[in-house]
Amino acid sequence: MKSIRDLLNNPNMIMDSEALEAFKRQREAEERAMVERIMRENAAARQAKLQRIFDENSLIPPVLRKATFENYQPTNTELRVAKETGIEYAETFRPDESKNLLLTGDYGVGKSHLAVSVLKRLIERGFTGIFITVPELLTKIRSTYNRDSNHTELELLETIKAVDCLVLDDVGTENGSDWAVSKLFEVVDGRLGKHTIYTTNLDSVALEKKIGERNFSRLMFDTIPVVMKGEDYRRRGFGRGDQ
Ligand SMILES: Nc1ncnc2c1ncn2[C@@H]1O[C@H](COP(=O)(O)OP(=O)(O)O)[C@@H](O)[C@H]1O
Ligand SMILES: [Mg+2]
Repeated sequence: MKSIRDLLNNPNMIMDSEALEAFKRQREAEERAMVERIMRENAAARQAKLQRIFDENSLIPPVLRKATFENYQPTNTELRVAKETGIEYAETFRPDESKNLLLTGDYGVGKSHLAVSVLKRLIERGFTGIFITVPELLTKIRSTYNRDSNHTELELLETIKAVDCLVLDDVGTENGSDWAVSKLFEVVDGRLGKHTIYTTNLDSVALEKKIGERNFSRLMFDTIPVVMKGEDYRRRGFGRGDQ
């Protein structure tokens, strides 16, 4: 037999079983809420980190900052197919299954717009990404040679190498020096097995001539070419007599 004193010292013992169950359920609910809060905070912190990697390393021209799939309006069938390919690529993206895109075609048809849209979708899905033009990337690499640079070439190349998806915009607009050709190779070769989206205004013959055979064959490895022909979106309507 328990004494009254024992019961008073241990309140659980005087709870009836119903009250005890209610108490347990409340404790469990509180624990679940805490775990969910921590998970939400972790997810938010991870998303912020992904966004930071993108923001700190990407150089997106101001006109493309708002680019999304939703505001890309294809003006012909080929561009519609390109948009569908981009959406499919972003939705089915798996880091362990390397697949690249080569968006090639006329100036102003939305190659960079679609590349930015893919990256934004991937970052929403929890992957890392960087958008940079090839000339800007080479300039960034060169600037690490300055004595007062914040980071080393190795650190920059490691960051570029590590992201799940890299957009190399405007391949072929860099100067075609031996240094540029060999740095491009280092970047592209270092990313074998990862995803890269290339955009270029050059056709395959001109591209191969500009970046060299070795780079070209690396670029085409596991790569889906997407041809985008059409009028410059910024100039649409001009010169057709309907403006
Ligand atoms: N079909 C489109 N719908 C909406 N905006 C477009 C479309 N095509 C191009 N643009 C816009 O026109 C500008 C040029 O597009 P961009 O992607 O830079 O062309 P490219 O990289 O092919 O030279 C950008 O501001 C882009 O947002
Ligand atoms: Mg472009």
